[in-house]
Amino acid sequence: MTADSWLDTFLADSQAMREPVLHRGLYKEPICVLDDVAEVLRNMRGAPPKSLLLRVYRDGGARSDMEARVIAHPPEPGEPLADWWRRTFPPGCALVLNGGERFCSALGRRISERLLLPLYREIGIPWGGVDLAFFLGDYDQTPFGVHADPDPAFIIPIGQGQRTLSMWSPEAFHRVAGAREVSFALEALRPSRRQFSLGEGDQLFLPARYYHVGENTGLSVTLTVSLGEVTARGLTRKVFEGLMDRQLPGPAQNLRFDLEAADGPLPIEAAVERWALRDAQTVAEWLHDGFEDFRLSLLSNAGLRLSPVLGHHAPEALAGEVVTRVAPFPIRHRWMDGDRMALFVRNASVTIRAHKQLPAVLAQLEEGKALSVAGIVTTLQPRFREDATLHVLNLLRNLGGIEIVPQVGVEVA
Ligand SMILES: [Fe+2]
Repeated sequence: MTADSWLDTFLADSQAMREPVLHRGLYKEPICVLDDVAEVLRNMRGAPPKSLLLRVYRDGGARSDMEARVIAHPPEPGEPLADWWRRTFPPGCALVLNGGERFCSALGRRISERLLLPLYREIGIPWGGVDLAFFLGDYDQTPFGVHADPDPAFIIPIGQGQRTLSMWSPEAFHRVAGAREVSFALEALRPSRRQFSLGEGDQLFLPARYYHVGENTGLSVTLTVSLGEVTARGLTRKVFEGLMDRQLPGPAQNLRFDLEAADGPLPIEAAVERWALRDAQTVAEWLHDGFEDFRLSLLSNAGLRLSPVLGHHAPEALAGEVVTRVAPFPIRHRWMDGDRMALFVRNASVTIRAHKQLPAVLAQLEEGKALSVAGIVTTLQPRFREDATLHVLNLLRNLGGIEIVPQVGVEVA
């Protein structure tokens, strides 16, 4: 089976994503390696713990003290992950990290190019976004017991070692476990399980709401690529909340209304005044733009849910350089009123002064061309002065949309 040919029959094999499918030896060259995991952990160093989607479990309980240890003392460069694990945790721990796409650019690119983009051609981009989650542990079974998740996912073992995943269809699970959603009574469930033994290069499809539990001997490391399912109602709520956050910021004050002045002005009037609705724009049009922005943002990150960590480069550092797009992530734009345009980069958006020639520059980058910054500056003059162009390009760079092409060093006498 070649890297993409499994997709030709995936929908039929999985009965429209309702049944598990194991693809053995799919990745001759691993799609995710232990070094990616170490890089993710290293790049989280010093991040505020609350900003991370990190949990550590031991003996069935969450351990925030151990989460702090991960952030303060990640693997050192070159340190084997198994060594770091042994020096960091007592036996029997599990680490779960969602949103891994934020912290390892190379992994996000590889997963997008080799798994997600070919998959989207079959099933489309999930509107809920894709989450890259890591499970590390030397626990004997998944700490949350036999459970089901709302999203379908691909489970990809990382590194050597075998691990076993047991699965039950919702019917098979509830026949034994009754109405409960989680069960630790593995003995009773064992006879009806479907068991999959996974090794490096394999990929297992886990349908949405399918019950499962992992069992290991020794340290096991797994990547879960979850396809975020969202209903039209859920998505509308999300888009609406995004619009509110962007266009209706303000102090979070509790409001009261005065019984003596019960027919006074409603606070909604003050809020509506601040809504950035254009003249004669209806709420439906406003929401439509919100959906379009959401779609372009998601597309610009190849469907990955989280943007990469923001870079801290200065605009001047771009002068004299050659830049290219960070493939496979496209940069999209939308024209706005008031001489503005929005750029969508790696699931972030920025609003800048509109420039008619900018989309042509972005299109060249999307074709894979490397462009000199000096050339882009010339193209966008005189409407954008040099410092304005450097500022825009630097935004794209810090957001992870473009990068400098390394050039062969020139010897200076
Ligand atoms: Fe799960």
